[in-house]
Amino acid sequence: MITEFETQTLKHLLAISRRNAWKTRPNPAAVAAVVNDGVILGIGHHRGKGSPHAEVDILHRLGDRAKDSTIIVTLEPCTHWGDNPPCTSAIIASGIKRVIFPIIDPNPLVRKNSATELLQAHGIEVISGVLVEEAAEANIEFFTHISQQRPYVTAKIACSLDGKMGLDNGESFPISSATSLHKVHQLRNKMDAIMVGVNTIINDNPRLTIRGIRSPNRLIKIIVDSHARVPLNARCFENTDPADVFVITGNDCPIDAINALKSKSTIIELPFASLKGRFDAVVKALYPYSIYHVLLEGGPTLLSDAIDHQLVDRLIVIQSPILIGGTSKYSFYSGNSTQTLNSALQFQTIRRQSIGPDIWIEGMIHRPTSNLTKGI
Ligand SMILES: NC(=O)c1ccc[n+]([C@@H]2O[C@H](COP(=O)([O-])OP(=O)(O)OC[C@H]3O[C@@H](n4cnc5c(N)ncnc54)[C@H](OP(=O)(O)O)[C@@H]3O)[C@@H](O)[C@H]2O)c1
Repeated sequence: MITEFETQTLKHLLAISRRNAWKTRPNPAAVAAVVNDGVILGIGHHRGKGSPHAEVDILHRLGDRAKDSTIIVTLEPCTHWGDNPPCTSAIIASGIKRVIFPIIDPNPLVRKNSATELLQAHGIEVISGVLVEEAAEANIEFFTHISQQRPYVTAKIACSLDGKMGLDNGESFPISSATSLHKVHQLRNKMDAIMVGVNTIINDNPRLTIRGIRSPNRLIKIIVDSHARVPLNARCFENTDPADVFVITGNDCPIDAINALKSKSTIIELPFASLKGRFDAVVKALYPYSIYHVLLEGGPTLLSDAIDHQLVDRLIVIQSPILIGGTSKYSFYSGNSTQTLNSALQFQTIRRQSIGPDIWIEGMIHRPTSNLTKGI
């Protein structure tokens, strides 16, 4: 039985976990609180690979004061030796009487023993299976990576009021305001990678970097390019370690182009001549590279394929108060036509705000989170 106070505390911990998720990857941003008699004695955090787990963080700080209390954690305590000793050992040694966690750790590498069985064998009461969906949502990149073997995909587009991402004549210009662009750089800083189609490199020659942020994180640049057409003098290669630029190609590229690209980038070759219509294979190819969250920045051809595969988990549309008109060449979505309104792909709006003259709309694809926790 979990009390209302404990439920509210767990919700609070999950909110902290969601905010910190981008900082601790590849690990989930576990958060733990030790509570006693309706009072929070302290909150512990995991701060990233190599640092103590949340349970150990708080139990170490509380020492004897944790005795006979309850510990609430956002994820099942670990039972194995990794970079750290098992959290279950720290819990048992601390004299904690009850453990509450919403969801088991789905990582097969750590699933040797059940924390519940281990703790119960030491006379500790264990409560789990509460706020399961909220817990998966808090670290959705981690759960997506393990359950679907691919990164979580956020697509960000800047468009006009009539939904155009560019001019028919291909001329390159920033559609959104400087204020929105700054927010985009903040967004890029929370990502593991940024992805574009090869035409965007050829037409716009973007640097694909994080600018205007102090000590930016490492960002992998990914170019999806079936035939190795990306120009070697593209700005995205400038001052960038070849290990940090991935060019995903097909298997029918001119050998000279591939050899030249190898000095500038990491090539990931997929077993298809053309990658058009293969966005599913493109994202799955990133699984071994510890890329948990990708920002897909266009253009419309690549984006439409991603949407058609239902592989855009989160969509951010920055709409600028201009009309572009012309043909539908650069309409942001020109994928499979929907036959009935009921069958249209739906996004659940989670944020809508004004940024300078622009409107920033953020939606999540309507998909049950339970898909992520199947079998857990
Ligand atoms: N406003 C914005 O937010 C924004 C952002 C980005 C770009 N843009 C605009 O978009 C324009 C380029 O758009 P675009 O649609 O021509 O190009 P794109 O989406 O950047 O690139 C499309 C190309 O990517 C390759 N590709 C590889 N895998 C693919 C897949 N699974 N699905 C689709 N394409 C795949 C294809 O070339 P291969 O067959 O050779 O592989 C395809 O022709 C630029 O001029 C730029 O101004 C606007």
